[in-house]
Amino acid sequence: MSHHSYIKVKKEGSVAKLYLNRPQQLNALHRAMVEEIVTALEHLDGDEEVRVIILLGKGKTFAAGADIDEMMEADPIQLEQLNQFAVWDRIRLIKKPLLAAVHGVALGGGFELALHCDLIFAAADARFGFPEVKLGVMPGAGGTQYLTKAVGKHRALQWLWSGEMLEATLLWQAGLIVRLFPEQELEQEVTIYAQRLASQAPLALRLIKEAVNKAQDLPLVEGMAWERKNFYLLFASQDQKEGMRAFKAKRSPRFTGR
Ligand code: CAA
Repeated sequence: MSHHSYIKVKKEGSVAKLYLNRPQQLNALHRAMVEEIVTALEHLDGDEEVRVIILLGKGKTFAAGADIDEMMEADPIQLEQLNQFAVWDRIRLIKKPLLAAVHGVALGGGFELALHCDLIFAAADARFGFPEVKLGVMPGAGGTQYLTKAVGKHRALQWLWSGEMLEATLLWQAGLIVRLFPEQELEQEVTIYAQRLASQAPLALRLIKEAVNKAQDLPLVEGMAWERKNFYLLFASQDQKEGMRAFKAKRSPRFTGR
């Protein structure tokens, strides 16, 4: 596996773990780090051995946001020319299930990174927030969009306007976090979840993900068309034959992702 400066990648069978690894700065996400994360995600997405990807933070925390040092003296023309948030859009193109396991804090860009994942798991005492408003700015890597789609306008506005830290339980109640675990069990529990997910038919997982994402973006009739096409497409797979034959033979299916 190639050398990384700000992340660490570990493959455990069909589950890949991508650790944010800049712990001295609480995994503050500077541009080079985000590029490294996204490039590694794309690499794992194309790796036949990998079926599910987990994003985690090394050290005390998941990620304390975009790197404030790097942004302090930014000017708008420079930001426009850098087009620095475009790299985030590539996360949307990842086809495999992408899980976030958040401990410590996920603030600003760190929260946005978690929101780019398909499911968020968290330590029971983790805290989330969008402190940008306190820095005189606002989220720029999808915070206003992803959060609103996830929890609706009114909660999103309250949280984005306040800039306060939010307890993981509050986000769990809002349906944003799927499960909470004690911090010392978080990685293990999310790994177990990921392994279970990895035993499902990979093509079905990815086409379900695609259809659900379409549901968030498209009018119903167009979303229905995506669902139908994806459903039909799965009948070209060996795994459809295997899944249905295994059911009839009363045995467990063995899915190959083909
Ligand atoms: N950028 C750069 N450096 C950061 C950072 C950030 N977002 N967050 C933490 N650090 C650095 C600190 O400066 C500190 O460095 P030094 O040791 O050199 O002083 C080190 O990480 C440890 O941090 P603290 O000493 O502050 O740790 P703490 O435990 O006392 O506090 C914290 C933790 C509450 C998370 C606090 O670090 C904090 O508030 N961080 C900033 C959070 C923030 O505002 N994030 C939003 C950034 S803007 C954004 O993300 C825009 C976007 O949408 C893309």
